[in-house]
Amino acid sequence: MRRKKNARPTRLPRWQEYAVYVSLGALTLTGLVWLGLDWGVRVESEFGPERHPAEHWAMIAHGIAAYAFLVVGGAMIPVHIKLGWSLDRNKVSGLWLGVGSVIAVITALGLYYLGGEGARSTASLAHWLVGLVLIPALIIHAVRGRRGR
Ligand code: HEM
Ligand code: HEM
Repeated sequence: MRRKKNARPTRLPRWQEYAVYVSLGALTLTGLVWLGLDWGVRVESEFGPERHPAEHWAMIAHGIAAYAFLVVGGAMIPVHIKLGWSLDRNKVSGLWLGVGSVIAVITALGLYYLGGEGARSTASLAHWLVGLVLIPALIIHAVRGRRGR
């Protein structure tokens, strides 16, 4: 692969950078669609008002995006994060982004496996609140990284 003379080792290859934007963008979008439908939309059925069927499809798309993001995010560990860390560059926002992603993953596991309505709804609230912070954290991280070039 041809590299520019001033290329930094911490700089992500273009495809990897876009893979982060696309997978996290899809996660946020599908999460927001679910939230919008769950809060604001009910459909009439013979058993009374019910959730819109698109909520289910939004969660299927969210699950697919989550698998993709886990691969893409995991691929950051061996080079991007290790190098950035050892060169002492962009560490604070990188750490926020990394820790936020881990919390989103742990709370997502809570959504799957926690029994009891109370625990599940706490996991749900924590999950989407942290989830919504990830895109702003990513923007800050990428912009600060660019400034440091
Ligand atoms: C590391 C990133 C993330 C992972 C691994 C992840 C994974 C998951 C999983 C596995 C579920 C349960 C799916 C189901 O019940 O079928 C879920 C639900 C959800 N996620 Fe995420 N997600 C992530 C990021 C986000 C983001 C960025 C948002 C932004 C809004 C978000 C919002 C939601 C919402 C609203 C739900 C439904 C909550 C509920 O059922 O009460 N997630 N997520
Ligand atoms: C402590 C952890 C991290 C450190 C130290 C770190 C370090 C850096 C540095 C130094 C840059 C600027 C690249 C350059 O121009 O040389 C950067 C940019 C970037 N980072 Fe991180 N990072 C961390 C975590 C993450 C995570 C977890 C993700 C995604 C899941 C991520 C995604 C990105 C993206 C998309 C850019 C912008 C593209 C680029 O400039 O190459 N980083 N990071």
